[in-house]
Amino acid sequence: MRLYNMFWTFGGLILAFLCLGVTGSQSLYDVQWLPCLFVDEHVRLNEKSHIETKYINREAVLQFGNVGDKPIHPTITFLVTASKVDMRRYLEGSKDTLLCEIRRYSTGGIVMRWPTAGAQDHNVWFTCTIRHTQGLFVITSFLRHATASPAQAQIDFMEWKEISDGDLLTTSAVMVVLTQTPSVKVRLSKVPSLHCKFAVDHKLPHATVEWRQQQHGERSKLFSYSSRTGKTEGSGVDVQAISAGNASIKLPPTSIHSEGTYICSVMVPPLNGSQDISLTISEQPRVSINVISPLTLTLGKGEKLICDAEGYYPLDATIEWYIEESGGSPTSPIMENVRYFSHQHHKDGTYSHSAWFYLQPGLEDSGNKYTCRVSHKSLLSPIHKSFYLIVKGPDYTMWYFVIIAMLVLLFYIFAGRKSARKRFF
Ligand SMILES: *[C@@H]1O[C@H](CO)[C@@H](O)[C@H](O)[C@H]1NC(C)=O
Ligand SMILES: *[C@@H]1O[C@H](CO)[C@@H](O)[C@H](O)[C@H]1NC(C)=O
Repeated sequence: MRLYNMFWTFGGLILAFLCLGVTGSQSLYDVQWLPCLFVDEHVRLNEKSHIETKYINREAVLQFGNVGDKPIHPTITFLVTASKVDMRRYLEGSKDTLLCEIRRYSTGGIVMRWPTAGAQDHNVWFTCTIRHTQGLFVITSFLRHATASPAQAQIDFMEWKEISDGDLLTTSAVMVVLTQTPSVKVRLSKVPSLHCKFAVDHKLPHATVEWRQQQHGERSKLFSYSSRTGKTEGSGVDVQAISAGNASIKLPPTSIHSEGTYICSVMVPPLNGSQDISLTISEQPRVSINVISPLTLTLGKGEKLICDAEGYYPLDATIEWYIEESGGSPTSPIMENVRYFSHQHHKDGTYSHSAWFYLQPGLEDSGNKYTCRVSHKSLLSPIHKSFYLIVKGPDYTMWYFVIIAMLVLLFYIFAGRKSARKRFF
């Protein structure tokens, strides 16, 4: 048994090395730069004194390096200098599987010194969100750009620092909030873990961690913890783990009401970073047909054939019956005389559905294969259930017996009369 396990472990390692060699996929720890979309904002008050925001997409790069480095690309450059928080630690895959977006971040009027900032510094904030195209992770980093002069406006977004094409902004990453489970698909009655992690560039930050669930536009709080007051509300998160930056939550057993968006937020004033995690329930159908293969029918007899798909979620399973003729016709025509029972909704939230047809075969149908095919969102490929049909001609054996028996009877009657006559005369 142990040898068997070792075999697989070594096999796995060799396979991993081969994959590394072939695809050249490695940690992105040494990546020099990443192309990014910079979503710039023009904010103004309109005639009715309402705030109007116009978003402008601009080309930019995130460049990792040191203060004073020259830009590698002639676009807007966000130079990220070394700090205790390195977002590259969490990147995986290759550069072309990453989507990077930089936005301005408003502290909503809160002006306070960031603990690692110089005494004269005034801060301009940006967020940089890097997502993996196949959903492995989403990482949001807060970038601090220091300026010597304080902002003039009361609220930062009313007077954003102007950025021209070709500008280089020196920044440092002060906080990251990330999830490795941006979208979770889970079965009923499971206890999913939603991943959320954070890191801050200084020790013992006053952090508040919160989890909320958003469903049909309504938010409810699942958990909160404040490191300043030590107060905890709700459950599912290991408070000890929070001090190490692990804010993952374990949810109670899933029901269909567990579906929705879960928001992990980490607040270290004046910053508030969050990740949205979508959770969907997916339950596969159990498929059965009401006969076992081969089905033998006598010519002239019929049978009702039912295909059941049970216990799936969400709604919408497709059931089809089709025939493959014994002659080997390559096409498999979908049967047309199929009827459906309406969808049933069960207490646990799952659905059932069936499709049936009445089969009254001719001798030429013998050898046909009948297949029920069920497709559902939860299945990578449809489920098939089949039976072969054998059609027997009408059964004459009984009649042979009857005829022979009558012949024998007739013979005895005839023979009996003869002998009776003999005795008589
Ligand atoms: C994070 O904490 C959870 C408990 O809430 C634990 O199950 C999980 O293993 C921890 N993850 C890491 C990476 O430490
Ligand atoms: C922080 O962000 C989360 C998620 O968007 C939000 O629910 C929460 O109210 C915010 N907290 C503060 C103090 O702004």
